[in-house]
Amino acid sequence: MAGVAVDTTSENPAVRRLSDWSAARLRDLAGEYESPLYVVDLERVRENATRLREAFPDAAIDYAVKANARKPVLETLADEGLGAECASAGEVVRAHEAGFSTLRYTAVNPPARDLDRVTDLAAEREITITVGARDTLTRLADRGWTGRVYLRANPAVGAGHHEKVRTGGDPTFGIPADRVGEVATDAEEMGFDLVGLHAHAGSGILDDLGRHEALVERVSEIATELADHDLDAVSIGGGFGVPSHETEPPLDLPTLAETTREAFAVDARLGIEPGRYLVADAGVLLTRVNTVKPTPETTVVGVDAGMTALARPALYDAFHELRSLAGDASDRETVAATVAGPVCESTDTLARDRPLSAPERGDLLAIGNAGAYGYEMASTYNSRPRPAVCALDGDASWVCVRRETVSDLTRLDQ
Ligand code: LLP
Repeated sequence: MAGVAVDTTSENPAVRRLSDWSAARLRDLAGEYESPLYVVDLERVRENATRLREAFPDAAIDYAVKANARKPVLETLADEGLGAECASAGEVVRAHEAGFSTLRYTAVNPPARDLDRVTDLAAEREITITVGARDTLTRLADRGWTGRVYLRANPAVGAGHHEKVRTGGDPTFGIPADRVGEVATDAEEMGFDLVGLHAHAGSGILDDLGRHEALVERVSEIATELADHDLDAVSIGGGFGVPSHETEPPLDLPTLAETTREAFAVDARLGIEPGRYLVADAGVLLTRVNTVKPTPETTVVGVDAGMTALARPALYDAFHELRSLAGDASDRETVAATVAGPVCESTDTLARDRPLSAPERGDLLAIGNAGAYGYEMASTYNSRPRPAVCALDGDASWVCVRRETVSDLTRLDQ
């Protein structure tokens, strides 16, 4: 596929690298709010939304809330005019409270409690529900709700940065393509307002535009078979990638958009639902060095954030850039460092044998691309409270999620 050059020098570069963040500002924030600390820059979230809108001017863009559901992030994207794509009743409630004018709930094996909550809210405002199994229709009708639905098709095309995030070919997700037609007929006979079709290949598609093209073609074929149902919209899901290495080229968004337009052969509005692309490079995680231990193999750098703060390295072997924010970092020699959290499991390693400016106890480190699936996937394993989250907007900064405490954790015990 011919690549259109990506302009990385404009006011709104295709990616914000970890090296682009101001070390002095991040040091100040950690000084004020302590560590571990997630930082999310709302200006960058807006820039990402702008680039997406420019690349896909006619598409319905729904933000996949699961990537980052912090209140200021949701409010920012609602103000930008995006819709919300939600994975649970909790996300639906958050997106509703943040002011999104369109809400879609993608029900994957939906628990009864989620269906109750979402249909209650759908009695008050418009919510569209994406249904990935025939019996979800019955369960919704049993609750007296037969509103706007999308059908989720399994496109049998998977893509993404790791096998664990490729949903497209997995039978768990969506209705088998050859059954979508009969479920569409059932939906209408049951009185639902069938307005759309949806499919999602996976997450973190960066240079594999061929897979993306195959997905769009497949979804178009399935939509064509539903021509009699007069669909308003066809969503091709999310999955737009963000480079994790400093030197890796960014996603070529103009080419991706052009490929999508060419492969999208449907008489309905195109929908996209990116999560990561909007928020990944708008966030960093700050962590402080607790221990420096020279060993024959490597320098072990013990930090105050581990797999409970950032699960992605443990779960997907995800690579996150690391940067020392020590004032004299550039004067120090470089060592091979293994950066590990406080959990006694070898999965609690944020980086192995990574070149790092020789660390000292008390140094602050920044971990890049932490704006997507960072805080959202944090856990309290080891009874470790979750970090605080600080939002930035221009010169303003504030704690938008306070640091959890041990009392927060024990409060639920009875
Ligand atoms: N739409 C649906 C139906 C999805 O399941 C997802 C993500 C998205 C949209 C947004 O995908 P995105 O644009 O963010 O790639 N925790 C993993 C990612 C899991 C994504 C799950 N579904 C990670 O940290 O890489």
